[in-house]
Amino acid sequence: MSQKIDSEKMEKVISLMKRRGFVYPSSEIYGGFAGVYDYGPQGVELVSNIKKEWWKIMVYERPDIVGLDSSIFMNPKIWEASGHVGGFSDPFVECKKDGKRFRADHLLEALGVMADEKMSEEELNTLFEQHKKEIKCDECNGNDFTTVKKLNLLVESNFGKISKDKNISYLRGETAQGIYVNYKNVLDTNPQKIPFGIAQIGKAFRNEISPRQYLFRTREFEQMEMQYFVRPEDEMKYYDTFKEYRMKALLELGIKKENLRWSAHKNLVFYATKADDIEYNFPFGWGELEGIHARGNYDLTQHQKYSGISLEYFDQEENAKFIPHIVETSAGVGRTLLAIVTDCYDEEEVNGETRTVLRLNKKLSPVKVAILPLSKKEELCLPSKEIFNELKKNFVCAYDETQSIGKRYRRQDEIGTPFCITYDFDSLNDKTVTIRERDSMKQDRIPIIEVRQYLEERLA
Ligand code: GAP
Repeated sequence: MSQKIDSEKMEKVISLMKRRGFVYPSSEIYGGFAGVYDYGPQGVELVSNIKKEWWKIMVYERPDIVGLDSSIFMNPKIWEASGHVGGFSDPFVECKKDGKRFRADHLLEALGVMADEKMSEEELNTLFEQHKKEIKCDECNGNDFTTVKKLNLLVESNFGKISKDKNISYLRGETAQGIYVNYKNVLDTNPQKIPFGIAQIGKAFRNEISPRQYLFRTREFEQMEMQYFVRPEDEMKYYDTFKEYRMKALLELGIKKENLRWSAHKNLVFYATKADDIEYNFPFGWGELEGIHARGNYDLTQHQKYSGISLEYFDQEENAKFIPHIVETSAGVGRTLLAIVTDCYDEEEVNGETRTVLRLNKKLSPVKVAILPLSKKEELCLPSKEIFNELKKNFVCAYDETQSIGKRYRRQDEIGTPFCITYDFDSLNDKTVTIRERDSMKQDRIPIIEVRQYLEERLA
């Protein structure tokens, strides 16, 4: 990740997310809990809309892809087979003075040194030794660090540990393993034939050494993953197809093209044929938004070996058996939300004041229509509530009679509501309302009876 940091933008985004009820630090009244966040009333809607859009593109629009919801706790052997128990670790150093831990590869990368978490402890120690003098602890400014060590990222639990001799169980470190171990179930109970995919959205947990950069790196997060099972010879063809497919999906969500780029993995895991990340230009620099991975037949081979169950696919056309290869697309919900919000955060001067507006794709807006009586007078509030009750059948609506109309518009702009309807004293007589559009602030006067159609046409 490059180090071009726009701290002002980052602070503004974090402040808006808190102020307008999108994201709260977890356990805040107890002083917080590192690496975990809660989604507030607006956040939960935005998250749900991001997931809905992903599901629509990855499942509903694809006859070749089906959905799954596997459990968070699984047989611990799965994590041995997958290689997570033995090799899912990140390198860290500790400041000897204040005990603060840092990702060793990130400290080196910040100096422009090529390093990543897949390097061995020895390789990283050599690099760290060479650059030790240039690296400072951001807490005490000292540079006396321990040697580089690796820490396993799997989160352990005592789930199901009733007697002493039971194994440790883990909170899943990725949703993908739940798909691999259900591949045979899906195949046996659905008309799916290779090539086909299984998609899943769900929580994952990792003991991240230094959870930083807000929602970018957290210890509890949601993933949106799809595993596509193919013939060995087709792996690269589908890899390229899904690269294009995922980039197109992000652009269609409204993320600006200039803020997205491809980055090929330089240091591939031994079984991978190819891996590319889609990176987003976050205020703290370019960072991985999602990954596309050609994983060969490693996953199913490992699970076949450890479970003793054949995971071979019988190809009727060829009258042959083989272990399918897998192309994976893997995205994080939190990172996608952060990219989207950063991308559409805007400020503009209006009548000598700064208007902050989230120019969200309407499909993602937490609230589609806000109904606002001009004042708190009952004669305006009652008919406004009637409009709310009518429109709520078709749209996610908000009703707000607090504060001045200007402040209420500003609040809706900041949460990205595409349309505000104002019921005023003229409405009592002429049965029309004002509809204000978020981006242009253009106002139309519309008969109440036509409002639903007006909105349907513009929100479709
Ligand atoms: N199954 C492959 C896999 O899990 P990954 O690159 O470790 O690959 C995939 O994770 C995606 O999950 C990332 O691109 C990112 O969007 C998200 N992700 C991973 N670790 C995360 C973390 N600690 N916090 C938030 N999102 C994370």
